[in-house]
Amino acid sequence: MKNRLALVTGASSGIGKAYAEYLASLGYDLLIVARRENLLSELAGNITEKHPGVNVDILPADLSGHEGVMKVKDKLSSGTMPDVLVNAAGFGTRGFLHEIDPELLEGQVYLMTVAAAVLTRIVLPAMIERKEGVIIHVSSVAAFISTAQYPVYSAVKVFLNSFVTGLRDELAATDIKVQSVCPGLTRTGFMYTDQYKEFDYSFVPDKYWMDPEEVVEESWKRLTKNYKPVVVTGRSNRFFVKMLSSPFIGPMFKRRISRRTRKRIKKGLPVNF
Ligand SMILES: NC(=O)c1ccc[n+]([C@@H]2O[C@H](COP(=O)([O-])OP(=O)(O)OC[C@H]3O[C@@H](n4cnc5c(N)ncnc54)[C@H](OP(=O)(O)O)[C@@H]3O)[C@@H](O)[C@H]2O)c1
Repeated sequence: MKNRLALVTGASSGIGKAYAEYLASLGYDLLIVARRENLLSELAGNITEKHPGVNVDILPADLSGHEGVMKVKDKLSSGTMPDVLVNAAGFGTRGFLHEIDPELLEGQVYLMTVAAAVLTRIVLPAMIERKEGVIIHVSSVAAFISTAQYPVYSAVKVFLNSFVTGLRDELAATDIKVQSVCPGLTRTGFMYTDQYKEFDYSFVPDKYWMDPEEVVEESWKRLTKNYKPVVVTGRSNRFFVKMLSSPFIGPMFKRRISRRTRKRIKKGLPVNF
């Protein structure tokens, strides 16, 4: 019997890679997508060595524009439609908006909103026909608070949470599970880029950090146990988000952060987020 198929974007590193490895361990065949072909090939080799019954297909594609998304569409329409979509491709832009390369920003918004919605649109009809499937988008705790240096990043994550919440209702007559998973700080390559080189991690207590494997395991478990479309991973992160969403403490905390940030910016001091 043929294995079920999972399409994982952003599989060349971090959370996407951890999903690919996890799904392979559950017996899914994989179609893995990202730009760095060498890393995809390396992952495919490692997975097939560890799970000889699993087939891994790689597709190098840049999903920050129409062409890359259509590449995935063409690949799927000439083969099998996936039973699982994990959309983990993403990157951060840290800095004041007027200083960020506009093209980078355009690609970021496309990748984390348009590509997410269109890929979902592409895989859904086959899932609806089967009345089952899993769609996971990797959002962030950043969806719950918007700060200087991250207004776009937070906004695209809000998009994902909202998108998945509405979609869940649309799919009420099926067993298709949709999830927007919101990790907090996760030990991946995400912050080891030029954009983040001045970010000082030392102010974040250890309890807020997770490994990508922990994020994935919790995300997958929450598809069945206490299912909700928006899932925050990690106890400390959940507590933080609960506090942000509480009617009294939440607005007070956000006002404090905002006031402190604006004060520092007025004085020309660095903002340490
Ligand atoms: N790490 C954290 O603290 C954290 C916290 C909350 C949420 N997240 C979210 O988790 C997701 C995954 O990030 P990560 O932490 O796993 O970081 P990561 O290790 O840098 O992985 C990002 C993945 O996205 C892929 N990607 C980036 N741009 C792409 C593009 N234009 N086209 C196709 N693929 C692209 C990268 O592959 P290529 O470079 O090979 O294309 C890589 O596989 C992101 O959406 C991020 O916002 C991360």
